[in-house]
Formats: sequence, C-alpha cells, structure tokens
Amino acid sequence: MIYLDHSATTPVDERVIEAMAPFWATAYGNPSSIYGLGRQAAAALEDARRRIARILNCQPAEIIFTSCGTESDNLALRGVALAAAGHGKRHIVTTPIEHHAVLHTVADLAEHFDFEVTQVPVDRHGLVEPAAVAAAIRPDTALVSVMLANNEVGTIQPIAEIGAWTRARGVPLHTDAVQAGGYLPLDVESLHVDLLALSAHKFYGPKGVGLLYVRRGVRLLPVQTGGGQERGRRSGTENVPYIVGMARALELAQAEREAEAQRLAELRRRLIAGLTDRIPDITLTGHPTQRLPGHVSLLVAGVEAEALLIALDLAGIAASSGSACATGAPTPSHVLTAMGYRPQEAMGALRLTLGRANTEAEVDFVVARLAEIVAKLRDQR
Ligand SMILES: Cc1ncc(COP(=O)(O)O)c(C=O)c1O
Repeated sequence: MIYLDHSATTPVDERVIEAMAPFWATAYGNPSSIYGLGRQAAAALEDARRRIARILNCQPAEIIFTSCGTESDNLALRGVALAAAGHGKRHIVTTPIEHHAVLHTVADLAEHFDFEVTQVPVDRHGLVEPAAVAAAIRPDTALVSVMLANNEVGTIQPIAEIGAWTRARGVPLHTDAVQAGGYLPLDVESLHVDLLALSAHKFYGPKGVGLLYVRRGVRLLPVQTGGGQERGRRSGTENVPYIVGMARALELAQAEREAEAQRLAELRRRLIAGLTDRIPDITLTGHPTQRLPGHVSLLVAGVEAEALLIALDLAGIAASSGSACATGAPTPSHVLTAMGYRPQEAMGALRLTLGRANTEAEVDFVVARLAEIVAKLRDQR
C-alpha cells in the first residue's frame, strides 16, 4: 500500500512508541496522587510540558493538554468567547476555509449564545488578506480565529501579519496549527498569536491527544470542569503516555523539519510534474508556493472524486478528496467553494499528501496508475 494521506493522519514514529512504553504498566500513576508513583507521572507530565514550551517559545503554564485538535479548537473558541460575552463582547472574526472543528463551533456559538460572526473571504489561492481581517474587527470582537495551514489545499496564512493587527487592536488571535505541527515553525512570539491548537497524530504522534497554547492574561472559561487538572482549565486525569508521546513526536518533527520539508518539496515537485505531464485537464488548487511542503491538491475535470478514490484504493494507493471527515460525503468542499470554484468543479477534488516513508519510486508509480485510472473513468462517462 502506498500511503498518500498524511494530512489525514500519520503512523506513530517508533521512537515515540519507545518513549511512551514505560507509562502504560510500569510508571502508571495518576499525576494527582501524592505517593511516588503519582509523583513520577507528574514529573513526566511536567517534563513533556517544558519540552513542548521550549518549541513553542512560551511558558509551560501556558500549555493545556487536551484529547485532540478538535477539543483544542473548541476550548479556544468557546473558552474565550464565553469569557468575553460576560463583558459584552459577542462578535467573532474567522474565515470560510477553517476546519469544521472551528466552523461548527463558531456556528454553535452564533446559534445558542447569540454571537455574531464575520467570515473574512479568501482569494482563489485560499489566502486571507491581513488588512481585511483588521477591517472586520469591531469594538465588541471577542476573538479572531484564522488557521495557520489549510488541510484541504495546503495554503499557509500570513498569521504573523494578522497577529500584528489583532495585537494593535487588543483582540486575542487563535490559530488552528493542526496541519502545521510537523512542517512550520511554531514560535508563538514570532507568530503573534494568543492561542494555538495542535494535534499529535498529524506529526507522527498518537491519535487522541492534542494541546492548546493560551497566552498568559487571555481570559478563558473552562469547557470541561471537574477535578481541576491543567490549572482548572481542562479537568480530567491527564493521558500521561500520550502526552509524553506527543512531546517526543513534536521534538522529533521540529528537529527534522527543515531537512524533511526540503525532501518533501522535491517529491511534490516530481509528483506535480508527472501529473501535469500525463493527465490533461487538471487544475492545481491552493497557493503555488505558500503551502505545506508535501501537500498536493488538484481538481480532475470530468471525474467524481469518490470513484477516483475507490479506484486508487483498489490499486493500493490511499488518498483523499480533501478533509478526512468530508471524504465520501456527496457535498462539494466548503474550502474550494469559498475559493471561488463551482460546486461541479469541486466534486473532482483530489488530495495527495506525502510523508516520511514516501519515495521517488512510489511517486512515479502513483503518477502512472493515476493517469490510467483517470483516462478509464473519463472513457466511461
Ligand atoms: C486543520 C485541522 N484542524 C483540526 C483538526 C482536528 O484534529 P483532530 O483530528 O485531532 O481532532 C484537523 C484534522 O483533520 C485539521 O486538519
């Protein structure tokens, strides 16, 4: 099987599995317990927090461990919005190309908590104009949320520039950095962000663990209350093995980031060259240069994505039409339609996302098979 869906998830790195191993049945204490086994777990937890804080260039106390990227986005949006509502602020600024973890949460805040939402439009490449974000900010704006990199089309947003505006206006900025974790610098000072969400399974860590960075001083109501873990901001016994695994995975991904980005960009160049050479009527989507290194997204005219994905699967190739959650759904992508593509065009969306184990030989194989499959599907129409 050739795996070309690293934006959906990644395999867990062997070195991460090794780092997690002691925390299942040996150092299994509850970090809140007073005896040695508990203190050992608490020490591992705080060590993971410190190591992640070094990468994010923040204080360890500014990191909240969560169960996934979706929870981190929910905590950021609901936590800040509901805290601000108490001070008469009921307006949120975001974009139409966010992941559903953000879009559906914002819609829920609008429907049930009387928030008003401004969606700043994106251009044909999926880029947001920082000045347009600034222009959307009002005196009652509680929060701005713009993703760092898009999962469907790979476009990287000018977050630092947006952050300069939000900072000048005194409005907190949240960024969903879930797709960026393994590929982009995550220094929250350079990015000018106040909240940042990550998920370990996108950078060769385990599924079901994430984090939210919250800058000191940002008012946040907890979504989950209980035993008061994570300084009262996210109650629930901490998942020590997964958190240790996430810290190791992030360290490895960030240490190897530049070399891996270069390798992936070269593989992507080869893949795109092969596809455009062999398959007529395809359109690359997303930004041509400001994009995630291993991310290829395209529209294949005259072909339904679902049929394409099934044929690819039969040929031993795992790919996607966009976001993992949207795959199989017969509706066109909200990201592509926001970028100005017609629903009919968007139905032929294909996403190929490269990762650590992919080789040139695999890329060449995929180009050849995909060319055959597309020709066959077009013939059948
Ligand atoms: C941009 C983005 N945000 C959030 C998420 C949700 O993360 P998780 O799967 O950890 O809940 C994803 C997952 O695909 C994503 O791509």
